Amino acid sequence: MTATRIITVSSGKGGVGKTTFALNFALTLSRIAPTVLIDLDTGTSSVRNTLDTHIGNDLYHFFRKGHRLDDCLTQLDDRLDPRGMFKNFAFIAAPRHAIDEITNLADQARWRLVHAINSLPARFVILDLRAGLDANVLDFLPLSNSGILVFTPHHPAATMAAGDIVKSLLFRKLRFIFAEDSPFYHDVSDRHMHRIVNDLLDDVEDVYEDRLPNLDAFLGDLLASIGQNQYLDAIADVINSFGVYFVLNMFDGVDESYDNAIRPFIEYLTKYVSAQLNLTNLGWVVHDQAIHRANCNRRPILLNPVGRSDRPAVDPVLAELAKLEQTLVGLPSRPTPAIKNAWRDEVLHIDPHQPLHRELEVLQQMYKSQGRMKIQDNFAYIANRALHVIQSLPAESFGHPKLYTPFEIFQHLFPNQPNL
Ligand SMILES: Nc1ncnc2c1ncn2[C@@H]1O[C@H](COP(=O)(O)OP(=O)(O)OP(=O)(O)O)[C@@H](O)[C@H]1O
Ligand SMILES: [Mg+2]
Repeated sequence: MTATRIITVSSGKGGVGKTTFALNFALTLSRIAPTVLIDLDTGTSSVRNTLDTHIGNDLYHFFRKGHRLDDCLTQLDDRLDPRGMFKNFAFIAAPRHAIDEITNLADQARWRLVHAINSLPARFVILDLRAGLDANVLDFLPLSNSGILVFTPHHPAATMAAGDIVKSLLFRKLRFIFAEDSPFYHDVSDRHMHRIVNDLLDDVEDVYEDRLPNLDAFLGDLLASIGQNQYLDAIADVINSFGVYFVLNMFDGVDESYDNAIRPFIEYLTKYVSAQLNLTNLGWVVHDQAIHRANCNRRPILLNPVGRSDRPAVDPVLAELAKLEQTLVGLPSRPTPAIKNAWRDEVLHIDPHQPLHRELEVLQQMYKSQGRMKIQDNFAYIANRALHVIQSLPAESFGHPKLYTPFEIFQHLFPNQPNL
């Protein structure tokens, strides 16, 4: 089996459709390869409430009874999957009722879970995260990309919250790189550099402080005062290589989505984080009562049977995946050395409108190819784009190849340090 890819689904704010998306997305991916969905919103047990299937062991048994995580997998029963189309799908449910120590995991419990997730026998592991930005969310998110962010044109505050996730992740990584005990300083003669860099990062992170509004200004400031050096290269690399991936849920039109979700999202990122991030719109899920009804009936929309008369000879999801392979638009390409170096020229001359034009184009092209699709195919489209990213970009560009503890993050960032 090829290496596991762990993909987080998060939103910052609640109620935008993370669980709905994560569940149907995982079902779609399971048609390609073994897929496990884990309900990490451990206070609300939302995945189990959306699936009418018998659950034996769950995260309660993992944390309280010492079970292995792969003993806590549940498969769909025959009523939900009568034709056995989703045999490669399994999920790990959150406890039936909120249990404080599982809702608010202590570090040690969280790292035990992290190690267990890394050993699951699956090609894709989807993590349905809770709303908010605490350690139980941030510690599961990737270091070099956003995983999948879900937001909706119907919930403008949620768009900002998704922007805050990106900001938190970038600053988290920069703080790791520029921590006091970071080996980064070993070769540097200027003893004060640690203070200077971290004071500047404080200024950028603080939205009430507009002297340095974002990381591009921060880089410009450093470039002007100390000239080209390894600090700037490292920061520029972190920012330029950071991938932001998003899905619009409850989509009901290009213009509305653009005005109410994509534009504010990109403007927020450009203003407060950086205009250099790589943004990828993976697709959308339409706003449709059938999706909500399916959730309420505890039979997610992907599991709704296709009627006998219109049951197609070819599986619609796989057929759509094959067709969409030909029509992919707006995917990021591997950064060439020229692009990587371009930040030096661009950092002081950023056109903040450029990413917006590109995103509108992506949205319109998607609409042309996706506009008349069935609801189920929305998920196939997104899964296909995600697969394309997985196949064409390095592993750390999208999701995680493996979850890391903070110590492992440090080792990963500084692999050649003998004293670690
Ligand atoms: N595309 C959609 N069309 C119609 N209704 C939807 C759609 N997506 C989600 N819903 C409904 O919106 C509500 C919130 O969805 P969901 O529980 O998936 O969100 P969430 O982000 O996981 O929420 P929470 O933060 O509470 O975990 C549910 O009632 C769900 O049925
Ligand atoms: Mg949820």
